[in-house]
Amino acid sequence: MASLLLFFSLLLLTPLSSSSSSGQIGINYGRIANNLPPPEKVVQLLKTQNLTRIKLYDSDPNILSAFSGSPIFSLTVALPNENLSSAASSPSYTDSWVRTRIRPFADVIYAIAVGNEVNSDPKLTRFLVLAMNNLFSSLQKFSLASSIKISSPLSLSSLQNSYPPSSGSFKPDLVQPMIKPMLDFLRKTSSYLMVNAYPFFAYSANSGSISLDYALFRPNSVVVDANNGLKYTNLFEAQLDAVHSALGRLNYNDIDVVVSETGWPSKGDANEVGASEPNAAAYNGNLVRRILTGGGTPLRPNDPIDAYLFALFNENQKPGPTSERNYGLFYPNEKKVYDIPLTAEEVAAEGGEAVAPAAAAPTWCVANEAAAKEKLQEALDYACGEGGADCRPIQPGATCYDPDSLVAHASYAFNSYYQMKARASGTCYFGGVAHVVIQPPSKFF
Ligand SMILES: *[C@@H]1O[C@H](CO)[C@@H](O)[C@H](O)[C@H]1NC(C)=O
Ligand SMILES: *[C@@H]1O[C@H](CO)[C@@H](O)[C@H](O)[C@H]1NC(C)=O
Repeated sequence: MASLLLFFSLLLLTPLSSSSSSGQIGINYGRIANNLPPPEKVVQLLKTQNLTRIKLYDSDPNILSAFSGSPIFSLTVALPNENLSSAASSPSYTDSWVRTRIRPFADVIYAIAVGNEVNSDPKLTRFLVLAMNNLFSSLQKFSLASSIKISSPLSLSSLQNSYPPSSGSFKPDLVQPMIKPMLDFLRKTSSYLMVNAYPFFAYSANSGSISLDYALFRPNSVVVDANNGLKYTNLFEAQLDAVHSALGRLNYNDIDVVVSETGWPSKGDANEVGASEPNAAAYNGNLVRRILTGGGTPLRPNDPIDAYLFALFNENQKPGPTSERNYGLFYPNEKKVYDIPLTAEEVAAEGGEAVAPAAAAPTWCVANEAAAKEKLQEALDYACGEGGADCRPIQPGATCYDPDSLVAHASYAFNSYYQMKARASGTCYFGGVAHVVIQPPSKFF
């Protein structure tokens, strides 16, 4: 009974997707520049562009007060890496940070990003979850823990494998010290994982083997994941599904992923292959079209994709190669660097030329072959029992009894349940032992 209750509550805990089937576009408001408009003007610009999901890299009260009072905005603010050790070691530091930086602007704050790409700084990884826990306690003290999420953006270099997407896994040396405790925290607080994903870097470093059309969401010959037959029309979704696979491999399929940064530079040095204005316009424009018209990724077809573009402005004081200062959609004088749609209205006005096809096709639910036997059995018992799936065909002698294996029977039962629930988000989960596929699992049907 306890295990049935556990399954039932896990099903309920799985976040439901919003009623619309398209995802949302946000934008990163980076400020490493000495020529940007004052925050009040930036807020006006964002309003005229209907951009309301904004991510910041700090918690500067001068910036936050420009947004405060406009409840159309939902901001992600950040506790920078340089303040992570203070937040990890001192609850009174996070209390005071929340009191002075968060509470006064709580009307517009949706989430806190704790550090950025902490996975690539070995000195910081051990502080991350301590800081997240302290912040959570501080939010609780000010009754803000239910309205403000806490997460932390990972970079794709947290992955050991990303190709093909089904082989996605986290770097083993990060798993115990950082990834698992963070995912436990995200699960416990009903939060989500933030991931910074840049097809540009992958393309630029491998332009001989990756097609530019595939990187830019243009028609291309499509990449098939040989392990599961899933078809990828663009590199962005392949990267995202590598993260989904890495989560599944650690049994965190219930954790939602939001792309906290993605973008393409409009200029670069000679060795930065692919950095150009037409390519940036193609990538960012097609990404927006894809997200605002489409469903989810091949591995999570019913979960709309949410992504924050990088970035609002070109930032003239960023160090590094030329590309770093040229990710902006806008010049500091507020003119667009190139013209792309940013809202559903603008995409619709173009005549709905969706680039990558939306995942409208039917989907199926199957058992993870690598799942632990006891977990599979438990989930199978739940699906056929309390879950109400039609399991008569997998009884001995019935039409689908063969192949007589736990995985085959579980797949049959999971899929029966999933179809009965009209493929609703979260109904192909079963405690992390099931996943969605877009090709009929022929050996069971
Ligand atoms: C964050 O750390 C920097 C560098 O140590 C420091 O100057 C700044 O005051 C800290 N910010 C907060 C809000 O504690
Ligand atoms: C902004 O939203 C309003 C109201 O929904 C809409 O009428 C307008 O066309 C949108 N503007 C853009 C640039 O999408």
